[in-house]
Amino acid sequence: MSNLDWSETGENQAAVHHDADATGLGSIERNAARVTVDEKRMINARADVNQLLPLKYKWAWEKYLAGCNNHWMPTEVSMQADIALWKSKDGLTDDERLMLKRNLGFFAASESLVANNIVLAIYRHLTNPECRQYLLRQAFEEAVHTHTFQYIVESLGLDEGELFNMYREVPSITDKAAWALNYTRNLDNAEFKTGTPEADRDFLRDLIAFYVVFEGMWFYTGFAQLLSLGRRNKMVGIAEQYQYILRDESIHMNFGIDVINQIKHENPHLWTKEFQQEVRDMLRDAAELEAAYGRDTMPNGLLGLNAALCEQYMHFIANRRCAQLGLEAVFPETDNPFPWMSETMDLKKEKNFFETRVIEYQNGGALSWD
Ligand SMILES: [Fe+2]
Ligand SMILES: [Fe+2]
Repeated sequence: MSNLDWSETGENQAAVHHDADATGLGSIERNAARVTVDEKRMINARADVNQLLPLKYKWAWEKYLAGCNNHWMPTEVSMQADIALWKSKDGLTDDERLMLKRNLGFFAASESLVANNIVLAIYRHLTNPECRQYLLRQAFEEAVHTHTFQYIVESLGLDEGELFNMYREVPSITDKAAWALNYTRNLDNAEFKTGTPEADRDFLRDLIAFYVVFEGMWFYTGFAQLLSLGRRNKMVGIAEQYQYILRDESIHMNFGIDVINQIKHENPHLWTKEFQQEVRDMLRDAAELEAAYGRDTMPNGLLGLNAALCEQYMHFIANRRCAQLGLEAVFPETDNPFPWMSETMDLKKEKNFFETRVIEYQNGGALSWD
């Protein structure tokens, strides 16, 4: 234990390892005492991060197993019907084509942004091996999701430059990406380390921006758009892939919320009234950015969707996320305008899949549409 710094963190006194210990790549302490569960912590842990067992956070391990059971590859899904529809002159309306392309463009870059944030910003500072085990699985799933967009571009013969540059060229998509990148940039600094209330809050902000907003709010309108095409028997291959992505993302989001809540629990001094208000403001801003994106992707409305309904859906989702974080709602109570989303997401049909912690998935199970 010779290389520990002790420093004050708010009301708590916490042990802060030097960087090498937090990463798990420092020099090995020969014959050091074995890790006990009590020493394990989400951030600023004293315990060796290379020792998975004994498990402390079983929820993290369960999500890792659920992710593995859900394994899928985009190339397992036939694109024949999608290709025929996309190439036929009257297969899709201009509005449907615009929405589809912008939706694909948003996701294509977002999957990479999320993956880079996990690997380059979060992983290093989350000092718990069972959570890192999940992050490794999640990082691979994000690679599978990015692969999905490569496969769609190739199958439909889309303009790859147009699609993968949309996050820089379509203002409502750029605004969302830029908003999230602000939060990861704080951590994207070789000098950054957790261990002070200020830095620990920076870390929490990044987790909230990516897990709650990006994956937990913005992805959901994107799913609603694509799944509404699938419900009408259009672009059924992509819709099936989105269902698999949604199944993965639902676990990513729930993992992130568990991580945030556990950090709050272990570090109550971080979760001040001011900080809670700041988080609520983040969720409100994020809902506004999403409303602008809705107007850009669906200027005229289609498939029973329109920008106003998507905005209402975002308010409903934002309020749910607040409840999951133990925060007061940011919008007046709002009904879910897309109740069919929870059914569409119910892969096993006999239980409500929507945002629940289902762990008994079957690998490669076929999906069927109502
Ligand atoms: Fe993803
Ligand atoms: Fe994700």
